[in-house]
Amino acid sequence: MILPIYLYGQPILRKVCRDIPLDYPGLDQLISDMFETMYHADGVGLAAPQIGLEYRLIVVDLDPLKKDDPTFAGFKKVFINAYITEKDGEEASVEEGCLSVPDVHEKVPRNNRIRIRYLDENLVAHDEIYEGYKARVIQHEYDHIEGVLFVDLISGIRKQLIKSKLNNMLKGVVKCKYKVKAVGKR
Ligand code: NI
Repeated sequence: MILPIYLYGQPILRKVCRDIPLDYPGLDQLISDMFETMYHADGVGLAAPQIGLEYRLIVVDLDPLKKDDPTFAGFKKVFINAYITEKDGEEASVEEGCLSVPDVHEKVPRNNRIRIRYLDENLVAHDEIYEGYKARVIQHEYDHIEGVLFVDLISGIRKQLIKSKLNNMLKGVVKCKYKVKAVGKR
């Protein structure tokens, strides 16, 4: 089922999320709905607060970008109750967008390498290191479950330049191809 995506200004996007109970009813269905919602909106990552749930749950699928990098092929991942334990490596700025902040694309500085522990969709525990664009996408999604949006991380000048777009979103003025929950709309 395709779920509406909560947009900039929705308070849920500012919450530090909690662990999802492992006996959460319909967890498999929720994960499958998150993938479907993400694909429908042409995203490569989605976090639970973006569909209105205050849980540490992230889905990522880089397979659609495999032309850019063959290691993205089949890189479809579920991160349940994720915690980044290390961030290091060189910092680089690369353009990002976000399904919760439509029509905004900005360069975001991030570390090149992360270490993350999480459970996969079979509730198997992992403690892994990711680098490069994979680390970037995971950090973007991880920020969502920490209440952080990519527009928080850009320079003051760039923030000024996108201010009117963000203010429009706060007024519920937004055009989007996918189903959304904008501020002030039910
Ligand atoms: Ni995002």
